Amino acid sequence: MTRDELATKYLDQLPYPPYPVQEEALLAWFTSEQGVLVCAPTGTGKTMIAQAALFEALHTNTVAYYTTPLIALTEQKFQEMQASAERWGFRRDDVGLVTGNRKVNPNARVLVVVAEILLNRLLHQDGFDFSHVSAVVMDEFHSFADPERGIVWELSLNMLPKHVRLLLLSATVGNSMEFLNWLDRMHGRKLELAEGRERKVPLTYRWVPDEFLNDLLVDMAKGDDASRKVPALVFAFNRDECWSIAEQLKGLDLMTGGQKTALNAQCDKLEWPHGVGPKLKQMLRRGVGVHHAGLLPKYRRVVEDLFEQKLLSVALCTETLASGINLPARSVVLTSLVKGPFGKEKVIDPSSAHQIFGRAGRPQFDTEGFVYAVPHDDDIRLVKWKRQYDQIPETTKDPGLIKQKKSLLKKKPTRNNQRKYWTEGDFDKLKAAPPARLYSKGPLPWRLLAYLLKVSPDVEKIRTVVKKRLLDQPRIEAGMKQLDRMLMILHEREFVRLEPEPPPAEDPTPQPPPRTGEGEKSLLLPPLRFGEGGAGGG
Ligand SMILES: Nc1ncnc2c1ncn2[C@@H]1O[C@H](COP(=O)(O)OP(=O)(O)OP(=O)(O)O)[C@@H](O)[C@H]1O
Ligand SMILES: [Mg+2]
Repeated sequence: MTRDELATKYLDQLPYPPYPVQEEALLAWFTSEQGVLVCAPTGTGKTMIAQAALFEALHTNTVAYYTTPLIALTEQKFQEMQASAERWGFRRDDVGLVTGNRKVNPNARVLVVVAEILLNRLLHQDGFDFSHVSAVVMDEFHSFADPERGIVWELSLNMLPKHVRLLLLSATVGNSMEFLNWLDRMHGRKLELAEGRERKVPLTYRWVPDEFLNDLLVDMAKGDDASRKVPALVFAFNRDECWSIAEQLKGLDLMTGGQKTALNAQCDKLEWPHGVGPKLKQMLRRGVGVHHAGLLPKYRRVVEDLFEQKLLSVALCTETLASGINLPARSVVLTSLVKGPFGKEKVIDPSSAHQIFGRAGRPQFDTEGFVYAVPHDDDIRLVKWKRQYDQIPETTKDPGLIKQKKSLLKKKPTRNNQRKYWTEGDFDKLKAAPPARLYSKGPLPWRLLAYLLKVSPDVEKIRTVVKKRLLDQPRIEAGMKQLDRMLMILHEREFVRLEPEPPPAEDPTPQPPPRTGEGEKSLLLPPLRFGEGGAGGG
């Protein structure tokens, strides 16, 4: 079957008329030699574009990979792909899944995997044959710029054989042209760009300064199906917080009658006598779920399922559900805009924020979505206090009122001066911030270096990896020096033997590599700059 015929066949079977960006991207995919980068807002049906690559693989008897950064997302895409394969007349078993947790049909023709799995296979090409691989889809491709894991995407791009076509998808890429130029220059891959700007389901943003989370959620759950603002995904940035917020929702009225009956029926079937099982089951009965990476997959999957059926009103989650996930969340609630260990919290980066916002209001389920953000409880107490305090005029002569005002002043709530608080201003900035630019983040980790050396002892190859990073020249040079230092250490400790023998080192201590994060105060190097425009501003 020719590409033209495949394109027609694919377009003919679409369940709905494609959005303009989908049409453009599909056309680009079926005509381009080497692939496409698709940049379009959250909830614009990028999955339907991605499926074209898998459709093609199934029809041409080749292999295609679909990678995502998250386990829950991989599971969701796996299910969608299986359903599509069946719809296209193939077997469900033609689609496989591989994550760190679970393997299903690991030798199938269409493989939905967590990104690390693909890299692993690329590093072991003796065991995994890529000659039949026709395409790799990288969903949530902005992961390339993740400070810890980005190197996985970067190396995968570097190592993928040239005949493999690429379909890169993201809602949050701030420098698509710059990235494509780099990919062409450094990796000899010419990708086309399909870009869309319009979100199909508009989002309404609300900063709620004066309502505790419990009250807010009760308000959101009021009303009929059309007016309720639940189901809601409530984001917290640590696991304990998820549990404690979920516990604190005990006894609140968050459900409708019908929802309760259906939910109880499903919960009755759950046999969870151990660990967090009983506690979670009890919560689920109240319409509240918890979802984070510390939960066993079997629990997470039930939470996802119940939420998908709109039986849960609220799911407390960490970033495990932050990107790509397509759930009937009418709202998302951000319980915090900062993240990190106590005392060292930082405002989350705009891309993560936009990904989280984007979980609300998805085309299949809603015509409008809502994003709520709340301040820290200390600040809510302050606002509530101030309102009471200000009700008594400064000029009052009434002795009773004067006394009352004085006593209120003594009860003024305080902030903890070690805590980092966040404000409406931070929320506004996150909303307005342009998507972050993609560039290489983090040094080459020791583990990967060791791995690369094991796969091929040719140091020059590894130097090339570093030379080709998406960074400015000073950082490339610093990266090269860092690599040399790392190699010297491995050599001195006799993990590897360098040939030719290097001259004796003067300073073998590894220095931390230059940071590339935006706005870093401790930059050892000048702000990151590329040819035009610069890349450090994002
Ligand atoms: N052309 C269309 N018309 C109507 N609904 C659509 C169309 N294309 C996709 N959808 C629906 O939109 C929803 C969101 O799609 P999808 O998850 O693919 O979005 P996305 O662009 O990948 O978002 P994200 O960036 O958050 O991953 C799905 O439920 C899908 O069924
Ligand atoms: Mg998606």
